Amino acid sequence: MTSPSGESAVLRFTGVGKRFDGGTEALAGVELAVARREFVSVVGPSGCGKTTLLRLASGLSAPSEGRIERPPERIAYVFQDPTLLPWRTALRNVELVTELHRMSRSARRARALDALKRVGLDGFERRLPAQLSGGMRMRVSLARALVMEPEVFLFDEPFGALDEITRLRMQEELQRVMGDGGFSSLFITHSVAEAVFLSHRVLVMSTRPGRIVAEVEVPIPFPRPATLRFEPEFGRLGARVSEALAGAHR
Ligand SMILES: Nc1ncnc2c1ncn2[C@@H]1O[C@H](COP(=O)(O)OP(=O)(O)OP(=O)(O)O)[C@@H](O)[C@H]1O
Ligand SMILES: [Mg+2]
Repeated sequence: MTSPSGESAVLRFTGVGKRFDGGTEALAGVELAVARREFVSVVGPSGCGKTTLLRLASGLSAPSEGRIERPPERIAYVFQDPTLLPWRTALRNVELVTELHRMSRSARRARALDALKRVGLDGFERRLPAQLSGGMRMRVSLARALVMEPEVFLFDEPFGALDEITRLRMQEELQRVMGDGGFSSLFITHSVAEAVFLSHRVLVMSTRPGRIVAEVEVPIPFPRPATLRFEPEFGRLGARVSEALAGAHR
């Protein structure tokens, strides 16, 4: 149910379980796959193991059971909190990632400037995080992830702290940025509408221990206009995800 089979998956979980020291079973029997250039969202009840799932996908944490296949590097992780260094400008926050890799100073600068441009922040390179809005800080965080040209993007509720209007704008921007690149994404969100708007497929998780209990395909071509949100088909797909989510709570 949960995975397109075939060789093109860049990220694959097979029978993955995670139990923490102390006994909490966060995940059990997780099966999922993300194909090349595919955008997959995961929605699920609070505490069901979504962040745990992303940490496993990133390699920050190891599974207790099962197998995870993922690219050895070029995985970018975007958190809910933009986690910028307050004393560094937007540009130097983005450059920070490239400093960890061997690259000339001018090449680093060119890539950071390009990444900031791609998220619509040209003109704001010299601002400190405190001089940027919440949405802009999140764009810097996205630019920082883009700068290394990752193969897989992992997002943990990146827009959760933003106001509704900024959040919708960011969804549209993210869609544009992803459309330009050859990335695959695994995107965690509490918002059913956000998941449907952005994704090729939406996966629904059960309560803890989390596993994938339903999958809804979103067969709407990209790029998707902002007005898609008012279309009956969008509402129908959202209702299917919501129903599966309600079932996951029972
Ligand atoms: N390092 C840890 N040690 C022990 N238990 C943990 C650890 N990390 C997470 N847990 C537990 O695992 C379960 C799943 O946590 P996780 O953070 O993955 O949930 P989540 O779905 O991301 O929740 P939310 O929607 O609130 O962000 C919770 O019961 C949590 O307390
Ligand atoms: Mg979480």
